[in-house]
Amino acid sequence: MEDLLKLAVDIAKQAGDLLLARPSHLDVDTKTSAIDIVTQMDRASEKLIVDAILKARPDDGIIGEEGANRPSKSGYTWVIDPIDGTVNYFYDMAGWSVSIAIKDQSGTLVGVVYSPTTSTLFTGTRGGGSYLNGKSLKCNNPIELDRALIATGFAYRKELRELQVKQFNDLILKIRDYRRNGSAAIDICHVAAGIVDGYYEMGLYEWDLAAAELIAKEAGAKVTVHGELVIAAGAHLHGELSKILL
Ligand code: IPD
Ligand code: CA
Ligand code: CA
Repeated sequence: MEDLLKLAVDIAKQAGDLLLARPSHLDVDTKTSAIDIVTQMDRASEKLIVDAILKARPDDGIIGEEGANRPSKSGYTWVIDPIDGTVNYFYDMAGWSVSIAIKDQSGTLVGVVYSPTTSTLFTGTRGGGSYLNGKSLKCNNPIELDRALIATGFAYRKELRELQVKQFNDLILKIRDYRRNGSAAIDICHVAAGIVDGYYEMGLYEWDLAAAELIAKEAGAKVTVHGELVIAAGAHLHGELSKILL
């Protein structure tokens, strides 16, 4: 597991370096809707990650947001988001990340979320705890709803945004405040680190969640998925959020 973690960190840092070398022009294509964008740098980052995985571990499977899809012969599968927070990246706003998870038959084994613009490297291994730049993490618990700082994000799909407006309104008068950072993986790692108290969002994909979910759980947070909705927080606040959101 330590070797897999080292490899995942090394690859995430290589991808981070590639992404920090921003080209003067970003080519933008749209995906599920006009506001769901992908750039040549999302694709270049995914290619770098896939090539590096295959060089070191040719029998591993890979699932990537920008199309990587290889079945596993080894029992290990890498789940990658080459840029989580493409809209931040597009505007050259800090906080986007590279998210890399490795899963086996029992679930996620290794999680790495790296944000080079904020010099934050979140890591976690199953049963081995989670870390921010090498410092062990523990989520905030117990936190009352009226003191809670909550991170969230908004889906690119309109039908989900309509539901998200209602969730936002249901909570805004009951909590301390909201933060919208632009990378779901970082938001969930922020729960792990106690940088926010809780997080919820609709419309995540496996590559948004896999690495950060392990990191948050290893820091003692409860992370649950209810159809399209993900809720992450310490146990007490998770219960309070669930009462309102479910
Ligand atoms: C998005 C980011 C954003 C979240 C969206 C995600 P992408 O991922 O994580 O914070 O609100 O739901 O789709 O498209 O930048 O990889
Ligand atoms: Ca993403
Ligand atoms: Ca992405």
